[in-house]
Amino acid sequence: MCGIMGTINKNNDAIQKVIEGLERLEYRGYDSCGIAYLDNLEIETIKTKGRVKELSQLVDSNIKTNIAIGHTRWATHGGATTINAHPHTVGSITIVHNGIIENYLTLKEKLINNGYTFKSETDTEVAGALLDFYYQKNKDIKDAITNFIKEVKGSYAIVLLCKDIKDKLFVIKKDSPLVIGTNQEGVLIASDIPTISCECEDYYLLNDLEWAIVGLDKISFFNNNGEEIIKERQVFKDAALTYSKEKYDHFMLKEIMEQVTTLSKLINYYLEDDRYLNLIDISKFKRIDIVACGSAYNASLVGKYLFEEEAGIETEVYLASEYRYKKNFLDKDSLVIFVSQSGETADTLACLKKIKETDAKSLGIINVEKSSISLLVDEVIYTKSGSEIAVATTKAYTSQLAVFSLLTLSSLVKNRKLDKTDAVITELKNIGNDVQTLLKDTSKYQEVAKKIVASKKIFFLGRSIDYAIMKEGDLKLKEITYISSECYAAGELKHGPISLIDKDTLVIAGNTNKLLYEKTESNLCEVTARGANTLLITNKNTDSDNILIPEKSIYVSPILEVIPLQLIAYYTGVLLERDIDKPRNLAKSVTVE
Ligand code: M6R
Repeated sequence: MCGIMGTINKNNDAIQKVIEGLERLEYRGYDSCGIAYLDNLEIETIKTKGRVKELSQLVDSNIKTNIAIGHTRWATHGGATTINAHPHTVGSITIVHNGIIENYLTLKEKLINNGYTFKSETDTEVAGALLDFYYQKNKDIKDAITNFIKEVKGSYAIVLLCKDIKDKLFVIKKDSPLVIGTNQEGVLIASDIPTISCECEDYYLLNDLEWAIVGLDKISFFNNNGEEIIKERQVFKDAALTYSKEKYDHFMLKEIMEQVTTLSKLINYYLEDDRYLNLIDISKFKRIDIVACGSAYNASLVGKYLFEEEAGIETEVYLASEYRYKKNFLDKDSLVIFVSQSGETADTLACLKKIKETDAKSLGIINVEKSSISLLVDEVIYTKSGSEIAVATTKAYTSQLAVFSLLTLSSLVKNRKLDKTDAVITELKNIGNDVQTLLKDTSKYQEVAKKIVASKKIFFLGRSIDYAIMKEGDLKLKEITYISSECYAAGELKHGPISLIDKDTLVIAGNTNKLLYEKTESNLCEVTARGANTLLITNKNTDSDNILIPEKSIYVSPILEVIPLQLIAYYTGVLLERDIDKPRNLAKSVTVE
């Protein structure tokens, strides 16, 4: 999704700082980019449909300036073109924007009637024009911003330059993240914390409808009525993020390999000193809804299974984009769990804001600390998997599964349905070794990748928890290989989709549940009878073409089952020479609806 970077500093290297920040934002996914800076008291703008590297080649590196803003755009309103790329200049205002201005067509009409013309198809240019419209009335930028906030519907993180006020940046925020960091050299503004945490000592987070005037020596904060407010300065405590692939060809592979440590660390942190027993007791609630998108939704399906089958608590899982417009039945006995790697996903965040108006309790299972969702929920469990750079999630997803295991076990132990010394807990503790075993020899996953490339159709099948895991395998393959694959509950195939099965089909099936082994095997017979090739991921002794995972309890098994699927998707992407870490059209955190 779109990324914002801006700076005002003493060193006159603002262009370089913005380009470096845009490079760090690249992982979010984008299709064009641009920069605006002050040069000889004039605002210069350079944009390209290409990558940040190309942008940096278009900018004269000899220019010294202390103020610049930049943007990576993920197209929403209007195609991925240079004209539509940000920054946009209208009158005195030069603007970069993340989010969506929902009433931009109405605003555009009003502005056209007031003599404005537009070069791009974007809602952002309309936002810039509206700011200019109010600014021109009395040349008061404060009035312009407060009027803008009153009139605009939608989401926005905005940084703007005003050509008449050359030593300040102005930032405005609603429903789209924005952070202002400071260091000895000056101020850096970005749309996410990781982008500036490597450069800044302190930072300020803006709440919705707040805005700021950023100068080199002073940052002033205001509410939507234009009244000055005090904001708490926060300190970066954790080590700055590193953006190195180390010895790996891609961040995705590095992050898959890191799962040995991310999972061990997370689980051991909670098991040490019985910390997991301090987690919220899910058995106290009469209703549990889990809300998420994409892979986080797939992880939630596993959570539902654990809560229901192991803890006996009825649970529903919803796609956030559906939940936000659905009638809810929540009261004080309800728990709504929000699962998100980024903690910024627009639909998930909107659902959280909606349920905040009810008596339900909210719990976040979040990776990025201090992200919008993590700050708004009643309680948060961090998945502690570190920064995830590849667009396709791997280590954050398995950490979400581990948190669901811990939450279930915590409830069982607290309610005396399981002993603290039970073998399943020891098994969870040792997960790192099992993950390591699966990662040791990658040649078999590379062989499967060749079979996938040679097949015309790919199906993923599974029952119960295997189905949830296969959904994640299917999503991973789609995301990074652009292969059109399908995923079904194994028993559902014969109700329609089996008509697609033929000799050009490869069926990848998960079969790890003893109670359902034979059922899934029968479904596989149905597809082999129609000429399909099959590949099983199973914990049952199997012929050598299949992938064997260690036989473990339900708290560990799903985590082990997904790892071969991650690697299969990865190696297929490599074979097809895809842009593994930044697949086409995708964004790391989806901050628009
Ligand atoms: O940051 P979130 O976990 O809320 O993101 C949700 C989805 O957008 C995300 O899981 C997406 O499906 C990933 N690209 C999957 O790899």
